[in-house]
Amino acid sequence: MKKFTSCLSGLICALAVNAPADPQPTAPGPVQINITTAHWTLRLLPGADGRLYQQPVGSAPTQGNLKREQESYPQAGDGYIWEPALQVVHADGNTSTDLIYDGVQQTNEPAGLTLTRIQLHDPVYPFHVTLCFRAHPAEDVVEQWVEIRHQETNAVTLQRMASSSLLLTKHVYLTHFFGDWAKEMLSPITEQLTPGTKVLDSKLGVRAEQFSNPNFVLALNEPATETKGEVLAGCLAWSGSYQCEFDNNNQGVRALCGVNPFASAYHLPPGELFTTPRMIWTWSNQGLGDMSRKLHRWARDFGMRDGHKTREVLLNNWEATGFDFDFDRIAGLFSPAHALGTELFLLDDGWFGNAHPRLDDHAGLGDWAPNRQRLPDGLAPLAAAAIKNHLRFGIWIEPEMVNPASDLFGQHPDWVIRQPQRELELQRNQMVLDLTRPEVQAFEWQTIQTILSVPGITYAKWDCNRYLTQPGSGGLAADRQSHLWIDYVTALYALMDRTAKAFPDTELMLCSGGGGRADYGALQYFHEFWPSDNTDPTMRVPMQWDYSYFFPPVSLASHVTHWGNRPMHFACSVAMSARFGMDLDLNKLPASDRDICAGAITAYKEIREVTHLGDLYRLENPHDNYRGALNFVAPDRARAVVFVFQLQAGAAAPVRPQGLDPQKNYIIHEMNPAPGRATLPAEGRTVSGADLMRDGIVPSCAHAVEASVIELGT
Ligand code: GLA
Repeated sequence: MKKFTSCLSGLICALAVNAPADPQPTAPGPVQINITTAHWTLRLLPGADGRLYQQPVGSAPTQGNLKREQESYPQAGDGYIWEPALQVVHADGNTSTDLIYDGVQQTNEPAGLTLTRIQLHDPVYPFHVTLCFRAHPAEDVVEQWVEIRHQETNAVTLQRMASSSLLLTKHVYLTHFFGDWAKEMLSPITEQLTPGTKVLDSKLGVRAEQFSNPNFVLALNEPATETKGEVLAGCLAWSGSYQCEFDNNNQGVRALCGVNPFASAYHLPPGELFTTPRMIWTWSNQGLGDMSRKLHRWARDFGMRDGHKTREVLLNNWEATGFDFDFDRIAGLFSPAHALGTELFLLDDGWFGNAHPRLDDHAGLGDWAPNRQRLPDGLAPLAAAAIKNHLRFGIWIEPEMVNPASDLFGQHPDWVIRQPQRELELQRNQMVLDLTRPEVQAFEWQTIQTILSVPGITYAKWDCNRYLTQPGSGGLAADRQSHLWIDYVTALYALMDRTAKAFPDTELMLCSGGGGRADYGALQYFHEFWPSDNTDPTMRVPMQWDYSYFFPPVSLASHVTHWGNRPMHFACSVAMSARFGMDLDLNKLPASDRDICAGAITAYKEIREVTHLGDLYRLENPHDNYRGALNFVAPDRARAVVFVFQLQAGAAAPVRPQGLDPQKNYIIHEMNPAPGRATLPAEGRTVSGADLMRDGIVPSCAHAVEASVIELGT
């Protein structure tokens, strides 16, 4: 094996002087670099040959010589024969890269975080890689990304550039989620990773997911449960084509996650910085529940906007009116909405387009002027009418899209993403605007700015209803077509960031034909996401369970609709366990259902401090049970809320909450009980946390599509 004796471990390599931007390490690096959180240490080790190695997570420290398989960020082309993290064609055509260790900087950041930057370089080329790790000690979260730069004579081509290539023990159980439109996250699969490679990926360009998901769980050495096992949640913060590849070479498993190398070769000019998306790892040695609670805490602090604010009750008109509305029909919903306790109204699709009115999904996208027949005086009077009824007002936008039937397409047919010479392929009758073009960026920003500046608008749902199938860009040179995938998402984030900064008080919902953008890349600019167009509460129970592995319920929009025709009490109870909204024509709602909604809203307002800001305990998995059960506990453990969702008939067996203070006494109270059902057997009793956790509470539900929401107060 080749040795790079000029760069032995701990020494600062002489060639590092070529690194343009990274400040140089000031002291010799340590023998071992530890990325440390409260319960996890990721150990990196510069080897005697100058390369950087990693102690596999979940296995005993390696004795003896370090093998190439254990390289921390392996490179293609010079000896490494497994799946590489980095594959580069250098300016002179050389397809090999070697990375040796230069040094490390560890910096303390506010809130107790530590940033570790490990510098590596190629001994032959002025090519530099920095592995970056931000450790969040209390949450056992490590964010990882990679920075690449060079000073070669010409552009180098990055063919693979993983965000993370974590090395794990040999026995790994992967849980991932397959789905489709209206079935997002509904099919969790747990499988032991056998020798060979397992790939989760998408090639959709403008969204990470439709069929598979860039969020997964790895259980090390044995399958995990909610309360037992060493687990890592992996979340790639990227809203474009992604790849998570698990390479099992029978010695260990390597998890390589990042932008999908598929058709994404990136030509990096000298002096420019390429930064990969972040990979977010969350560690627990106490099973899935602890893992999620820590990830939720991280998300509320760092992964989303205003994660420490409770969310208001929302009424959306989409399921109620679809495209069929005008000013009066919408304004007619405001007074009943307020009477019910609603706090925010969201006007969905169909409010714009004149020459090509948006009366259905065939026309109008791109022409963002309010439709004069439906809204003769524009949006402002409608927002004012909502505010007069004590409702905030929000609006649906889909700024990245255009219908061929639109003025915009007529004026700028070249602005769309398509393949020359090929017949146009539409999805939902629409096309994606090419955000790599500066004029399209300017147009989309102008659109967003104009709409969100309408007086009274303080909420927006940002949709994206198709993905790329013909990825050609008229704005990119012929030899740069492969940049489309990355440049699109980078420009999208710039637009989202600009929106978030320009409208700091406007709440934003992320939506993509349902849950196509449930990822931490986009969520950092948003307050919540729409998990799925499927709002049948019997589907939402398992779906929300699965999303909750990765996302805190405060970020999950959950609306009461008529999907599945389920009892109103059941639908409301399911929505109460996340961000409560309704998609109902309140004027057509029977009085009995209206009363149930009003009761649910009152209860939701009482418990949202606990459900949005507290800790979630998943108790009974609805995928393999006749019911699902969860509970939330307030940070001070003075209050808790238990949810039981009965999916099929079955015994009213006690449900055992977790996370309570064993010493505290809790008063049991069923919130918004279903009309006509027997009172909760323990209603009004005071029971200690210890007894509640041991003996459980018998819920009031025993039949299919019944639910029980039980508050435990002190
Ligand atoms: C998507 C969204 C829906 C709704 C429609 C409007 O399908 O997921 O919630 O906003 O678009 O066209």
